[in-house]
Amino acid sequence: MSIDTAQQDLPEAFRMEDRLPDQLPSDPFPTFARWFHAAHEQKIQPNPNAMTVATIDPDGRPSARIVLCKYLVEDPGYIVFFTNRTSRKGAALDAHPRAAVVFHWDRFDKQVRIEGPVVESPESESNRYFATRTAGKRIGAWSSDQSKPIGSREALLQQVRDAQKRFGVDPDAQTEPDPETVPRPPHWGGYRVWAEKMELWVGNRSRIHDRALWTRSLETTIGPEGEDSFTPGPWSATRLQP
Ligand SMILES: Cc1cc2nc3c(=O)[nH]c(=O)nc-3n(C[C@H](O)[C@H](O)[C@H](O)COP(=O)(O)O)c2cc1C
Repeated sequence: MSIDTAQQDLPEAFRMEDRLPDQLPSDPFPTFARWFHAAHEQKIQPNPNAMTVATIDPDGRPSARIVLCKYLVEDPGYIVFFTNRTSRKGAALDAHPRAAVVFHWDRFDKQVRIEGPVVESPESESNRYFATRTAGKRIGAWSSDQSKPIGSREALLQQVRDAQKRFGVDPDAQTEPDPETVPRPPHWGGYRVWAEKMELWVGNRSRIHDRALWTRSLETTIGPEGEDSFTPGPWSATRLQP
């Protein structure tokens, strides 16, 4: 089967700039944040905050999966996703605490690549985000030993029922149960991917795409809540051939 790769014309509403400015901005984050927020506001896809996160397994092999970017912190420049820290990606990040991330907004013809060290979110950040989740999603965090094998879907559903029972959540209740009754599991939390490199890629209808790479140093430090953190140096920008 062949796939027709001809690019479809975009509706006017989705058009954005089709090149980077001649004078590259000194910091790539404001441009990235503008695209990220526009993708949400214009509802260009069901999960505009979806990103591919590539890690290195303990045996040195790469693996990648999609997760949702829940926080984008322009200054000092990191993004945050949430997951089960005992998952395959958690084991990978324990062994090699670095990641490569890719966002692709097809309708905007934009790609953003971010690479850098990864640290666990401080407790307050994981708690703050967990507090926004419905009781059903909180139960999900307790009932799935993410990335581990399980004998059947029924066995998985039994784990969900067990977690509901443990926390007194009635699955047949007409109203959404109080999420406060389901605390954050100790193995569930955030990871901050600090941007040490960021590449912005802009598709251009003339097919000469535009691409630039920003790099900076990150000096290890301890954050205000005792978490692993970094003090960034200034960005340096280079245009790349597409
Ligand atoms: C659109 C989409 C969003 C997802 N968001 C998350 C997420 O935010 N956190 C998460 O742990 N898994 C998320 N997943 C599931 C992951 O892709 C993956 O299956 C899971 O995290 C296990 O990955 P691992 O075995 O490499 O650790 C998402 C999947 C899709 C398709």
